[in-house]
Amino acid sequence: MNDTITIEIKEHIATLTIDRPKALNAINADVMQGLNDWFSEGYKSVDKLRGVIITGGGEKAFVAGADIKGFTNLTAESGSEVSRFGQETYFLIENFHVPVIAAVNGFALGGGCELAMACHIRVASMDAKFGLPEVSLGLIPGYGGTQRLPQLVGKAKAMELILTGQMISAEEAVKIGLINYAIDKDELISKCQSIFKKTRTKGPLAVSKAIEAINAYYDKSNDGFETEHSTFGLLLESDECKEGVSAFIEKRKAEF
Ligand code: CAA
Repeated sequence: MNDTITIEIKEHIATLTIDRPKALNAINADVMQGLNDWFSEGYKSVDKLRGVIITGGGEKAFVAGADIKGFTNLTAESGSEVSRFGQETYFLIENFHVPVIAAVNGFALGGGCELAMACHIRVASMDAKFGLPEVSLGLIPGYGGTQRLPQLVGKAKAMELILTGQMISAEEAVKIGLINYAIDKDELISKCQSIFKKTRTKGPLAVSKAIEAINAYYDKSNDGFETEHSTFGLLLESDECKEGVSAFIEKRKAEF
């Protein structure tokens, strides 16, 4: 892992901090490569990983977008490749097998808002700001924003936010369904931990398959209902489900 991302592992939860506070944690090539490396391979070294938190270093920003200063020499071809690699990396996060929570501690703009949207759950501090301001740069969102924002908030609101490039408050982001919670900054990490406290008492295979089935709804090459019924059947044969069902019948706590 390169030095643009710090990783802390505590009680089987990994916290990844994007750590370029002087540039408001803007995502340059090293950050994107670091995320790609960790979500494809790096996580495998964590013993019994049960959740991931992604947050931003410093006081001001989660991530203020892709690093605009790296755009000056891009061509149509290399720019498209940067966008494709970003999309691929965010797919790894969206399809990760354990819950990933964005702890949004400030500006979440452009590629930063897109990163938060790729996470399974978003918890933000009251002072966080969200937006996809790419049109101000003569661009469009390139890390999945045109696709995930309408999924979360509907087409009308997504059109408005992307075409105007306007920023919205965390409170407004909760109202439109872009994020799950807006809370005091001091409580950001403890809120994520309290969500994990709930998910980690559940069957890990079931949690990972639920992520897969929900994502299947948005995958145009897939029939989500088919994914659901085949996964439901497979899980019924799993040791995990046998334990969960037995525990219910025997009136005891399941041990996964
Ligand atoms: N890329 C590179 N550097 C950035 C950056 C970004 N996205 N955002 C902030 N910075 C840098 C600033 O250049 C500045 O650096 P210097 O001190 O060296 O000048 C430093 O971070 C602090 O920023 P500001 O002085 O601008 O801080 P502010 O409080 O006045 O404003 C802000 C904060 C409103 C977030 C403002 O920095 C801003 O508008 N940033 C750009 C936001 C943006 O347009 N994001 C989208 C990027 S494009 C994208 O993400 C494409 C995609 O989908 C893949």
